[in-house]
Amino acid sequence: MQVVADIAAVRRAREVDLSATWGLVPTMGFLHEGHLNLVRQARRDNSRVGVSIFVNPAQFHNPDDLATYPRDPERDLALLKQEGVDLVWTPLPDQVYPAGYQTYIHVEEASRPLEGAARPGHFRGVATVVAKLMNVFQPQRVYFGQKDAQQVAVVKRMVEDLNFPLAVVSCPTVREADGLAMSSRNVLLSPQARPHAACLFRALQAGSDAFAQGEHQAKSLRDAMRTVIDATPMARIDYVSVAHPETLAELDVVAVAALLSLAVFVDEVRLIDNIIVGETACAETG
Ligand code: PAF
Repeated sequence: MQVVADIAAVRRAREVDLSATWGLVPTMGFLHEGHLNLVRQARRDNSRVGVSIFVNPAQFHNPDDLATYPRDPERDLALLKQEGVDLVWTPLPDQVYPAGYQTYIHVEEASRPLEGAARPGHFRGVATVVAKLMNVFQPQRVYFGQKDAQQVAVVKRMVEDLNFPLAVVSCPTVREADGLAMSSRNVLLSPQARPHAACLFRALQAGSDAFAQGEHQAKSLRDAMRTVIDATPMARIDYVSVAHPETLAELDVVAVAALLSLAVFVDEVRLIDNIIVGETACAETG
């Protein structure tokens, strides 16, 4: 496994075998099973696998959030080596955003609601860094977890709009035994708060069960999810949404499919999760 920091070194490693197909897994490190699941899918689909580890300052609008973002580069590299990854890019911030940097990508509609409304500028930072990663690695496929459903929607829109010649692969959310979606942020939960964090998945299940029983009014599905969170100690709703899976526009009635999603503070840790009702979750486009 080659570990490099310079853009030129990534390009050289990438060009050694031009007949290879590359899968890229962009990460911010502090890897968990969710990331490793993406790496394994990339391994199955491609002859070479690249991973980036970069805590992207441009997607944090809160400096404390950036400062406290968990990091463990040595453990990350050991895990990636075990998975047979070929190339890891670990740039420093000024290699990605050198002095004088001033080019950003703004995906308009898909970035606006939900996480975009709660975290101004977040998707501008995500779209920009993902475009740069794809430009440097030039992969045939790029992999994301469905847990960040809006991120997937934003990246798919950007890839289509800017004609990147690659496929965006989104893979199902990997969960703990109690349903909590795996996330690097879970480590920030106190032992007292951790058991309550499963309320996000329970709320999504309540929405999904209501849909399966024939409830297609979006308001009723939102209410079913809210009821679960409101009954959970230490949990406070940021938003609860029933939206179109691609445009992310809020729905009145679910005709075909919907993205049920929510953001909840458990103690002081903000967690997100989602599921799609009415269609399957793992998809490749491009
Ligand atoms: O999902 C993440 O970890 C980040 O948003 C990503 C895609 C690596 C971009 O920094």
